[in-house]
Formats: sequence, structure tokens, C-alpha cells
Amino acid sequence: MKCADSAPPQAVKCNPDPHLLRFMADLGLGFDCASAAEIQLVLGLGIDSSRIIFSHPCKAVSALELASSRGVPLAMFDNSDELDKIKSVSPGMRLLLRIYAQDDTARVSLGKKFGAPLDTILPLLLKARALDLKVVGVSFHIGSAASDPKAFATAARDALRAFDQGRELGFDMGILDVGGGFQHSNFEAMAPTLRLALEHEFPSRNVRIIAEPGRYYARSYYTMACKVISRRKQNRNTDEGNSAATVPDMLYQNDGIYGCFMNRVTEEEVFVPSLIPIDKGHGGVSRRQGKHFYSLWGPTCDSVDCVSDRAVLHCEALVGDWLKYPNMGAYTAASATSFNGFPNVYEILYVIRKTNKNHCKVEKRN
Ligand SMILES: Cc1ncc(COP(=O)(O)O)c(C=O)c1O
Repeated sequence: MKCADSAPPQAVKCNPDPHLLRFMADLGLGFDCASAAEIQLVLGLGIDSSRIIFSHPCKAVSALELASSRGVPLAMFDNSDELDKIKSVSPGMRLLLRIYAQDDTARVSLGKKFGAPLDTILPLLLKARALDLKVVGVSFHIGSAASDPKAFATAARDALRAFDQGRELGFDMGILDVGGGFQHSNFEAMAPTLRLALEHEFPSRNVRIIAEPGRYYARSYYTMACKVISRRKQNRNTDEGNSAATVPDMLYQNDGIYGCFMNRVTEEEVFVPSLIPIDKGHGGVSRRQGKHFYSLWGPTCDSVDCVSDRAVLHCEALVGDWLKYPNMGAYTAASATSFNGFPNVYEILYVIRKTNKNHCKVEKRN
């Protein structure tokens, strides 16, 4: 079975949790891997290498060697040096040419780092032919958390041009990979434009179209609960912080922007928690009811480590309470660091995990 004949690949980079990957594997999905470690992770789960696409256009030689030796069938390239590398390490791999694409409104722009500009497509294809490499299609990625449907239309048009040039040079162009960028919040607005663009550019061209969604699948997979480890009352408040006009009291929780909340910085994400009050152990201390406003801080000694400047909770929060954050499955634990001695995010976080049986299970992970 060739990768492109299986179901579309899930981008591992977005959430490499083995539980999620296995769930995806059981659904029949393939896997978009960008590094040797991701490939090994997927293979270690017993998933066949034929279901992997090596999607990084600029790979380390060692990673390419691993992919080739383990039988990963398909890889990307977007520059001339990459072709030389592929020729010397893995000449039998089938290749997708990643072309430049860009949605300027995407939260994470990928066009400034990857993608062959239009005027380089022909020289790259000529070089691939001279090296006797097997180019079998085209890929693009308009940027992660994209929102401008026109970017898909432009990318599809450019992809057609690359397809035509490839076919003219004798390549068996059969795969179009439309990348990721999908989000729940605007899927209905984006998807029809992509569909129309593909129908317009590739009406009857015998092309298999795949995608590499990351956050679209993974985002809702985690709900996260963070413990309130400390609290600072602001003396300037006259009404105990329960008015939008006052300086909010400060809550310190056991994870922050150096952990699973990095998207506050990289994507300007606004986190909206709800409070899970824990009354045991407070010795009968009562809490004030009604709306309370707080700024939310991570556990490190860094003042940049702020999760929210102003969050509204339904009542007063106490040390020991929990803050519950939905939709924490994409680019969260995957990019957490160990800064300031908070090394293992899994040790301090309880992850409420939805299982495929549609019930919740609480786990402490080590
Ligand atoms: C090559 C590649 N494929 C797929 C993805 C997944 O993108 P998204 O999470 O926006 O769906 C990314 C993310 O940056 C990527 O770089």
C-alpha cells in the first residue's frame, strides 16, 4: 500500500501524544512526520512506514537516512540542495514538490520559511529529472490557523502550474497535498473555497488529493486543568476584585507560557478558563460569590509568563482550586519547555482525556 493510497495524514508535530496517534491510526489515518524522532515514534506504535509522509522540505541527512532505511515512501523538497541530498541518500523515494503558498492572516506563517517560489519550479523539476528522481506530485501549506480562503485559490492555481510543468517533463504527477491550516472556527468558510478551487483547477485530472491537518483534529482532544498554586491580592482593590474596573487579583497556576500555553506568545491566543472550586482543605473558609476578575500567571520566575491579563471567573478563586481550559490539544504539550526547573509538564498536569468511547478519563502522566 502506498501512502497516498491510504487515508490523509495527521501532522504529528501538532501533538505527538501516542494515545492520540493510536486513535488516529485506528481511524485509518496516515502520519505527516517532520523529523527522525517523529518517524520513530510512529513506527514504534507498530504503524507501517507506508502510512508516513516525510513532510519536512529541509531535512537532516541522518533523518533522511532513517526514513529511507525504514521504508518511508514519500518525502518533500523545495530547493536544489535538497535534491542533491535525496539523490545521494534515498534516490528511490517518491517526491512531492512543496510550492510557496501564503495566507498573510495565518497565525503561523510558513511561506517565509518554506516553499519553492513559482519561478524556481521549472529549474527544480529539470534538476530532479537530470538526477533521475521520482517527482509524483505537489504540496503546499498556506499557514497554520489560516483564515483567508483566497490563499487556497491562489495555491491551487500555482499547484496546477507545477503539475503541468511536471507532466511536460515526463513525471507521473498524481498527488496533490493541500497541507494544513484548517480550524474549527472557520472551516465552513474555508473548505468550500478550497473545494471550488480544486474543482476548477483539477477538474478531471486523475489526481489524488490529500491534506495534512494538524490542529483541526488535535485541538479538541485535550481539556487541561491547571492547579492554582498561589494567589496575590491587589491591595488597590476596594471590592475584592469582583469588578471589571479594578486591578485584578493575581492567580499563579502550575503551567504557563513556557509549558502548554506558548500559543499566548506565538499565536496571540486568548485563553478562557472556567473555575473548578475545591472546597475540601480550606477549613471552612468561605469564598465570595459572583464574578471575579483575575490575571493568570505561569509558575516560573519570569514576568513574561502571563497566561491572561484579565480572566473572569464565576466566583472567587482559592489556592488549590483548578482552572479548566478546553481545546488544549494542538501545539501545547508538543512545544512545552523545561525552563526554570519546571521540567516535566506531564508530571504537573492532569489531562482529562476524551476516549474514543466518548467518555472522560482522568490520568496523571509521568
Ligand atoms: C508540513 C506541515 N504539515 C502540516 C502542518 C499542520 O498544520 P495545521 O496544524 O495548521 O493543520 C504543519 C504545521 O505547521 C506543517 O508544517
